[in-house]
This record gives sequence, structure tokens and C-alpha cells, in this order.
Amino acid sequence: MVYTDVQHRTWHKLFGMLESRIGRFACREYLDGFAALAMSRDRIPHLAELNSRITPATGWEVVRTPVRYSDAVDWYNQFAQKHFLITDYIREEKELEFTPEPDMFHDIFGHLPFLMIPEYAQLEELFAPAFLRADDATREQIKRLAWYSTEFGMIRERGEMKILGAGLLSSAAEMDRVMSGEVPIEPFSCERVIEHAKSVWEFNSILFVADDLQAYHDDLKRFFDAIPERVNEPDPPARSAPPARP
Ligand SMILES: [Fe+2]
Repeated sequence: MVYTDVQHRTWHKLFGMLESRIGRFACREYLDGFAALAMSRDRIPHLAELNSRITPATGWEVVRTPVRYSDAVDWYNQFAQKHFLITDYIREEKELEFTPEPDMFHDIFGHLPFLMIPEYAQLEELFAPAFLRADDATREQIKRLAWYSTEFGMIRERGEMKILGAGLLSSAAEMDRVMSGEVPIEPFSCERVIEHAKSVWEFNSILFVADDLQAYHDDLKRFFDAIPERVNEPDPPARSAPPARP
């Protein structure tokens, strides 16, 4: 994949905006993964470069897709094979601070450092088996649980509030808003989280925090273990082109 100079410049600008914040605000797992992944600051990283570090670390593989949005079944079918899909698209320069549509900067900068960390990979690996056997109503709940954990979750570290969610770690404006205390943050529990819809088109008005990665893992596993097998129509077969995201 060949990117234009403008796209590389957008990556570089975004990298600079976020790098200055993550040292203060990101959780330890992200910072460890960020150091180990050693992404290029000046240009959009090559897929081969990313996979040469991620796959040996956790067994996950990053797969690029031209699809910008897709349904969650396709996404989780890929997830079940430890395939993490990233888009070709990168936001316009006027959207540096926030974009409602997840772009490759979000996918790479926000998510991929975590895929260097085995404990985090195990958290992601809980989602696909639960989603693929759940009925439609439960699938909506699982999407909310993913939203308020791996996308926008918070975590406590030695009494301090830190960021776990990739959506926050890739958005300067929303990160600043959350870390200045403007957003109410409640204790994470699956039963509470599923009552809150995803906030795709605007900043989140509520977020959730757990004590550590293990606490997220334990609560999600407890909830997912209680999901029975899907009893209605089976899912259609996966499409040949990989999807972008749920
Ligand atoms: Fe994401």
C-alpha cells in the first residue's frame, strides 16, 4: 500500500499530538507495548514491520482492509482467528483532534501497542467466542462492553486514573476532556455498562473504570460464560473481503 505525502504528514502530526499526552495519561500496559512496538513517528508504518513484532509477542496478526465499516459478525469472525483489521483510510487534516469514524491512526496508534502484551491479548480473545454464539440482543450488549472497555475504558494505577481505551488514546480532544475530569467515571461492571449505548457521533458522556486488566478480564469472562449458544438462524458465511469493524 502506497500512501501520499499528505497522509504521512497527517500521521506525523497526530503522532506528535498524542505522544506528548500518553506518557502522562496512558496505562502501563499501553506504554510497555508502545515502547516494544517502536512505531515510526514520521510515516505510516508498514504492515510487515508491525506484524514482525506483534505476531511473535501474542500470536495476533494485523490485516489491512479497504472496507471502512462492516458488520460485527465479519469483524468477530476475523477476531476469532486473531486477525486485527486496520483500515486504509486516514482522517483529513481538519479532523486531527477527533474523528467519529475510526481511521488507521486510531487502529494502529490506539490499539496495536496493546497487542504486544499477552495479558491484553487474552482480554481481546474473550470477545469473539462470546459474540459469535450470542443472540442478537446479547450481541448488542457485547458491543457495548467492548466499547466501554477496550475502546474507552479507564483503569486505576496506584490510585491514579489512567486510560485503557484505544478510542481515547488516539483522540487528543477526548483524552483532554476525560483527564480534566469533565466526564463522570463509574466502576466497571458488565450489568451497568450494558445499559449505556455507544456514543459514536459525539464524545462519551459517561465512562467506566476497573482496578486493573485482570478485573476487566474477570468481569467480562463471568458475563460471557453465562451466554448460551445462539438458537436462531446461523450467521451468513463470511465475505471474502475482510471487513473494517463492527
Ligand atoms: Fe477501535
